[in-house]
Amino acid sequence: MSSKLIAPSILAADFANLQRDVEMVNNSDADWFHIDIMDGVFVPNISFGMPVLQAITKHAKKTIDVHLMIVDPDRYIKTFSQLGSDILTVHFEACTHLHRTLQAIKAEDMKAGVALNPHTNINVLEDTINNIDLVCLMSVNPGFGGQSFIENTYNKVSQLKELINRKGASTKIEIDGGVTNKNALELVNAGADVLVAGSYVFKSSNQHNTIKDLKALANS
Ligand code: DX5
Ligand code: ZN
Repeated sequence: MSSKLIAPSILAADFANLQRDVEMVNNSDADWFHIDIMDGVFVPNISFGMPVLQAITKHAKKTIDVHLMIVDPDRYIKTFSQLGSDILTVHFEACTHLHRTLQAIKAEDMKAGVALNPHTNINVLEDTINNIDLVCLMSVNPGFGGQSFIENTYNKVSQLKELINRKGASTKIEIDGGVTNKNALELVNAGADVLVAGSYVFKSSNQHNTIKDLKALANS
């Protein structure tokens, strides 16, 4: 079985010590940097934009996984590619022409991700799953770190895994929101491949060990 990945969410980092926190992730067992971009329109919060992403990518030595919580993401696909994104995830709910958006992301040599809000049914991906490298299942309502995990996510992981298998797709399943050592194992057992963790990592007293333990748990 391929190894399960850990993606610390930089939203929960200390922005006054961003380089320090990026180096911590570089030197940890983490696999990806998860970067949340919020526009204050698609979600009721604004996080950070291009200059901050540029500062992160200058020091980051691992895969850059960008999660766009913005309306009309097509406008910025080229920009995020130029800034060093390896994976670009757009929200299903923000795309009128999802298939076209996925093609545009791949044309910029990035992996294409689609995020689903907690209320969005898996079956909306029936006709696109073979074009998607990563599905990000939101296990909280997007917009803020530190919220509690929505339990129905386990069912959605199983349903998505079934869809991926049925269609012979190689899509990875990422879980985003409220991930801790309390739900990690059940999530990977249901079929999750990538666990995003923000507060659980950055608010812990030993971030390095928290990542190490979460990674070991997810692969146990
Ligand atoms: C929420 C973001 C998440 C967030 C996760 O809108 O997409 O990536 O940073 O934070 P935690 O792990 O604190 O729930
Ligand atoms: Zn996210």
